[in-house]
Order: sequence, then structure tokens, then C-alpha cells
Amino acid sequence: MSQSNRQCVITGNWKMYKTLEEAVSFVKELAPLVNGTVAKVYLAVPFTAIKSVADAAKETKIVVGAQNMHDASKGAFTGEIAGVMLKEAGAQFVILGHSERRHLFHESNDFINKKIKRALIEGLQPILCIGETLQENEAEQTEAVLKAQLTECLADLTAEELHPLILAYEPIWAIGSNKSATPELAQTVHSMCREFVAHTWGKEFADALVIQYGGSVKVDNARFFMEQPDVDGLLVGAASLSVDSFSKIVNYQGVQNP
Ligand code: PGA
Repeated sequence: MSQSNRQCVITGNWKMYKTLEEAVSFVKELAPLVNGTVAKVYLAVPFTAIKSVADAAKETKIVVGAQNMHDASKGAFTGEIAGVMLKEAGAQFVILGHSERRHLFHESNDFINKKIKRALIEGLQPILCIGETLQENEAEQTEAVLKAQLTECLADLTAEELHPLILAYEPIWAIGSNKSATPELAQTVHSMCREFVAHTWGKEFADALVIQYGGSVKVDNARFFMEQPDVDGLLVGAASLSVDSFSKIVNYQGVQNP
């Protein structure tokens, strides 16, 4: 975990899992188990569950957010959702640029850039996901791919505007594959990203930037990632679907006020 007072943020990404009823009972069960953790606990839930989960999470450590949004403030975009609607429902953050959005729904860096701008306007904290494919990794293109994603997704935004941003490094080959990156690889990539961010947006912003690792994070490997100096948090998919595993990941450092 970072030496520079960056807050640890652990985000559960539920993807298209959990009905409203399942979501609310999960949060009621999770809340007392994570009350004393040193980490910030974020849950990115399905759109339909945001309002009820946010209500159930009031007065708890759990912060509720969304997994995607459109870049327009409103309009004729059948099936889409606007940031202002998420905010009204109780979302405080939004995951943008997840590899499933990029690959299955063909989202470009340019589109993600527009969404980040909209999220910031609406007061939603963006979690920007970046990551390389297995092919890019094997061709040693990771650095070039990530730098291009950062440059294009964060284009025309100043360090001041980007202040709330969280970055999540998710190597695509590690997502849902049970084949996580090694903690050492995550550290190397996070450190490279932080240096690049410092070069472009300044050292002060880069030093304060929370960078999460995501991709097959489980109870038994979470703490090894968190021991790395440039890993400030985790983005957890499958292991966030069970109260038992997610609470153990969130409490990896033990609790402050048990
Ligand atoms: P995983 O998913 O933990 O199931 O690999 C991570 C993610 O997609 O954010």
C-alpha cells in the first residue's frame, strides 16, 4: 500500500448480477462486517439497484455507484442512462472504460473521454479502467497501449478537473480468468502509469492518484497486491459477489474499530 497517504479504495463490480432483493440483502449483511475497515468500500451495482442499495447503505461505510453511463446529459438514446439520473438515484461514482464495455460494446477512448467529462460535470467520481489484451501483453505493447488509453481518455482535462479520478489497471487477460497478474507486474505497471501521469498532469496530482488493480482478485491474493507501494486499491469482480469473500478482501488489513 502506498506510503504517501493515498486512501485505499476497494471497489466491487457486480456486473450484470444480483436482483434488487439480492442486492439489498447483500448490503445489509456486508455493512456491519466492513464498518471498521481502513479501506473505502465502493460497490458498483446494476442500475435498477442503485436507489435501494444507496438507501440501505446510508450511515454505513459503503459507497454506491454505477458501472457505466452515457456522455450526453439527456436525449434520444434508447436504453442508455444519464449521469444526472445516476446521481439522483444515489450513485456517487461510475466505472468508465471497463474492458467489457470497450470490447463487447465497442467503446472507444474518445467516447470514454466524453463520458469522463460528463461524469465530472454531474459530480460523479469516475473510475477509469485501462488495460492491455493478452496479445498486446505478449507483444510487449503494454506500456504503449496504456499510455495511449490514458492520453486519449483523459484528453483536454486538467489536473484540477481530474481531481476526483480513480484509475484502475485491469489487464484484460486477467479478468474473470482466475489468472491474475503477479503483484510485481501490477507494481511495475502502476508505477509506470503514475510516472506518465506525473509527466502529463504534474507530480502532485500523480502522487495523490488512487490506482486500483483489477483482474482475478481473490481473498488469497488481495493482500499481496495491496502490499505493493503503487497499488492503492482493488477492483473486484467475481469475488465481490459473495459477502464472505468481499468482506475478507476489504478487511485485508484488519479492522480499525472492531
Ligand atoms: P474479476 O473481474 O475480479 O472477476 O476478474 C474484475 C473486473 O472485471 O472488474
